[in-house]
Amino acid sequence: MNYNIAVVRGDGIGPEVVAETIKVLEKVGQKFGHNFHFTDVPAGGAAIDAVGECLPAETVRIAKASDAVLLGAVGGPKWDNVPGDQRPERALLGLRKELGLFANLRPAMVFDQLADASPLKPEIISGGLDIVVVRELTGGIYFGEKGHKDGGDMGPAAYDVEQYAEGEVRRIAKVAFDMAMKRSRKVTSVDKSNVLESSRLWRRVVAEVSEDYPEVELDNLYVDNAAMQLVRNPRQFDVIVTSNMFGDILSDEASQITGSIGMLPSASLADGNFGMYEPVHGSAPDIAGTGQANPIATILSGAMMLRYTFGLSEEAKSIEDAVNRFLSDGHRTADLCGGAPEAVTTTQCGDLIAANI
Ligand code: NAD
Ligand code: IPM
Ligand code: MN
Repeated sequence: MNYNIAVVRGDGIGPEVVAETIKVLEKVGQKFGHNFHFTDVPAGGAAIDAVGECLPAETVRIAKASDAVLLGAVGGPKWDNVPGDQRPERALLGLRKELGLFANLRPAMVFDQLADASPLKPEIISGGLDIVVVRELTGGIYFGEKGHKDGGDMGPAAYDVEQYAEGEVRRIAKVAFDMAMKRSRKVTSVDKSNVLESSRLWRRVVAEVSEDYPEVELDNLYVDNAAMQLVRNPRQFDVIVTSNMFGDILSDEASQITGSIGMLPSASLADGNFGMYEPVHGSAPDIAGTGQANPIATILSGAMMLRYTFGLSEEAKSIEDAVNRFLSDGHRTADLCGGAPEAVTTTQCGDLIAANI
């Protein structure tokens, strides 16, 4: 079979982690007889430098025409003073919106081999911890009205509006409940309904959707409590469903359960099978070019692409098994071993995982 994948390498460590993922996917293609065809498209800071805009129309066109998109990361200090609506991060938001990617799945799993890499005590994370954050991705404060106005006595002001329509909440809630049906049948919805009108609507609609899933237990938590519970007792969670911004924050927090943000993959899905696959982490400008980037988050995002968009579960599992074997063999990237001298580089990590396929 032929599969067309649009590739946004992006900025900072983006190109480094994407290169290792393509290496692994090509190995999977050889082994299982698939032809993965990769088409590079510019977006983010690299696109600003090359063509003067962060998200060229041609990039969106090619992404839409592809079977799936693989993305490294965008952004970096070089573009921090670019006007807000032209920043590299706008490219990512633009792709999510244009491609209709409203459901962002961010699984956080503890690999037993990495129990000592987590800052949490072993008794808190041991025993196969496996959480998935289902983050709403094309609504909320990220996409509400924004602007500047007169702040009266306090001087010039700026604002960003948090807003959710019932339909937006309903469709992401369904994704979460459907996912819970295939897992431990527990959904925790996270909001701030003690304060926010949009959260009260969120909580009501999630409760309505839950009526169609009598086997699934629904729990509601305020986001401040959820942030605390996530490190106090992460085992109480199975599927967490939440808004765009709360999901952004809680998924970075969840990464610490697993030991490193360099381990967390994600799938951003539209209706149907189309998706964009990207690590949860950013462009890590502090380590770009040093060979210290952990490519596993992106490699595991590649596995999610095989599973969710292409329906290739055996092939996806071969990648997950290869990562497991890499860890069991005692290999560690710098982020997983406190930068010890025996750490493997980004390229060595990709080579070793590809060799395990
Ligand atoms: P970041 O995730 O890039 O980095 C946070 C910390 O984690 C840094 O110390 C970094 O070195 C480390 N880290 C991240 N990924 C790693 C990996 N694979 N291996 C080892 N260590 C890793 O977050 P930040 O520093 O807040 O943001 C940097 C830039 O990335 C900003 O411009 C931000 O807007 C952008 N960003 C982009 C995305 C994306 O494209 N999806 C996501 C988050 C942040
Ligand atoms: C992420 C990132 C993005 C987000 C930024 C870079 C726009 O932090 O994918 O988690 O906030 O969604
Ligand atoms: Mn983020």
